[in-house]
Amino acid sequence: MTQPKYHSLFELVSLIDEPNQVAILRFINANRAVLQEACGSSHNHQAWKGGWWDHITEVMNIAVVLYPVLNALRPLPFTLSDALLVLFMHDIEKPWKYEEKDGVRVHRTGMETKAKHQQFRMQVAGSWDITLADEHVNGIKYAEGELDDYTPRHRVMGPLASFVHMCDVSSACLWPNHPLAEDDPWQSARRIAYTPEPVRDARPAVSEAVQSARRTEKPPGDCGVGCGCGFCN
Ligand SMILES: [Fe+2]
Repeated sequence: MTQPKYHSLFELVSLIDEPNQVAILRFINANRAVLQEACGSSHNHQAWKGGWWDHITEVMNIAVVLYPVLNALRPLPFTLSDALLVLFMHDIEKPWKYEEKDGVRVHRTGMETKAKHQQFRMQVAGSWDITLADEHVNGIKYAEGELDDYTPRHRVMGPLASFVHMCDVSSACLWPNHPLAEDDPWQSARRIAYTPEPVRDARPAVSEAVQSARRTEKPPGDCGVGCGCGFCN
């Protein structure tokens, strides 16, 4: 079998339907330094600087490979775009989830529970005009499985969540150290090059609409929004 191409994160986002594609690109560009600095987890998978970006790129690449195989066997009740959207969003809290205390990576205050993670994800979607249907919300919430919401009375995870979980667990548990720093067996798989640079703010950057509203309220600073100059916060 010829190896499928390993796509970059931007190539994968380009496969998401509009209007969410452009909304996600705006979010990435506004938060790029934070996203490229973040770890994929505290310890268990892609736990290096840049690991969040690498994990998201991995799960979306796995989806691109798995989707046509499963869809050819039995038509799936969602599109590849749906799956890529959910996979992009499923760990969107992680770049803001941790902080270092005495050299140990711990959960930031307000980021301690699964419910708070999901709340944060929905806030990001709302702030950046990322439109989510109920099946997307279900997929984002249950990408890691049903966990404490399991009940023998009915299935909690929908079909989209089930597919997304397959992709997530493949990256987190089957291939937790991939992509390798070099010579990954999946040719062209690369880690995002991590370039240390100061992270200015622990919060997500605000949307363009909020930025322009603030600019009209106060004279513009010469330092950009989010720098802490007094015009921005
Ligand atoms: Fe994940």
